[in-house]
Amino acid sequence: MAKVNQTTHDPKPGQTRSPLNSQVILNDFPILNQEAHPGKRLVFLDSAASSQKPRQVIDTMTAYYEHDHANVHRGLHALSERATDAYEGAREKVRQFINARSYREIVYTRNTTESMNLVAGSWGRANLAAGDVVVLSEMEHHSNIVPWQILAEQTGFTIRYIPVTDEGELDLDAYAAFLRDEPVKLVSVMHVSNVLGTVNPVEDMIRQAHAVGALFMIDGAQSVPHLAVDVQALDVDFLAFSAHKMAGPTGIGILYGKRALLDAMPPYMGGGDMIRRVTLEGSEWNDLPHKFEAGTPAIAEAVGFGAAVDYVAGLGMDNILAHEQHIVEYGMDRLAEVPGLTIYGPEPSRRNGVIAFALKDMHAHDIAQLLDVEGVAVRAGHHCAMPLHQRFGVAATARASFYVYNTTADVDALIEAIYNARNIFRL
Ligand SMILES: Cc1ncc(COP(=O)(O)O)c(C=O)c1O
Repeated sequence: MAKVNQTTHDPKPGQTRSPLNSQVILNDFPILNQEAHPGKRLVFLDSAASSQKPRQVIDTMTAYYEHDHANVHRGLHALSERATDAYEGAREKVRQFINARSYREIVYTRNTTESMNLVAGSWGRANLAAGDVVVLSEMEHHSNIVPWQILAEQTGFTIRYIPVTDEGELDLDAYAAFLRDEPVKLVSVMHVSNVLGTVNPVEDMIRQAHAVGALFMIDGAQSVPHLAVDVQALDVDFLAFSAHKMAGPTGIGILYGKRALLDAMPPYMGGGDMIRRVTLEGSEWNDLPHKFEAGTPAIAEAVGFGAAVDYVAGLGMDNILAHEQHIVEYGMDRLAEVPGLTIYGPEPSRRNGVIAFALKDMHAHDIAQLLDVEGVAVRAGHHCAMPLHQRFGVAATARASFYVYNTTADVDALIEAIYNARNIFRL
């Protein structure tokens, strides 16, 4: 095992300071205490794709399987009751975490993608027709574009995309014009861009949408893990996010929806658990949130998600935000030193968690492979945001993304590896 020996740098004047103790946090993540290749410490800068899991989450899931597992909601025996308590207890933790009014507004799904497909397939299919407009943006992840395109082909509504400025921000004048001039029924926009890091002003955007009677869905895949999101304060109608990007397991995500909206929506999938009564003539739906949870759910994953919520809430969402702000500021400063390197997206104070970049004359895949040789894990490609890459005229970017366990020493390792890659390409 590689010895994790990390240092953090004191911030320059005007820069933020991290309130988190990275040495303590690093010890919580067993996977990070290893060499990626012989002699090369693993530097994990791919958390926007999926974060690593702390021991607290891994242990909670193991204990659940060792002591409490049975199917939920159906059995009257002790194990089933314990499993149900753990499963529903995790839902309550999530409710508190995003400050929803009721557990009935918290629907377990597989991930952000499924949450947004649920809204398109249920609310969208029931409410959208030719003549209606759905507003998305040019920076969306494919999971907030494709479900709407599929539905639009079937029902005939129109999709408008908020353009992205050269600085990597939403063109809010264009947004206001859509709302003013078109029959907009729903706006669905990401809170934080998984490529540019841009933090979109969703609070104002929601207010504007509501003023014309449109609903608002937030893709919270890259915000809920990194900053405090309060659904009541935002007054958002739907919020989608995934556990695996916030120290939790894969296979479980959340759709938050206002109760009146979820109540009025038809089921998305049919099967066990989502019904109250079935006859050969027809069926009655179960209460929320079960109406949207057909079949045996991801029970251990929900329980692990609860532990992940405890973990990140224990660190403090404001502390996580400040920590990442510190790393991003330092990272952008250091990356700006590299000749021929272009950073996409806004200045550090207007972004969070990720830095996508391109190096002149080097393909992003070559960069990622050469960084991997040095133990530095970044992602390369279009990051499921092809329209955004087209907007900036690049096929692919390399992306370094950060979470609670990253330090400025990781950024230094990234920079050193980039210089090595440049040498190999004789740039
Ligand atoms: C902004 C954004 N939205 C949606 C998703 C999809 O998340 P999942 O794959 O967990 O469904 C991602 C994943 O990278 C993302 O970054």
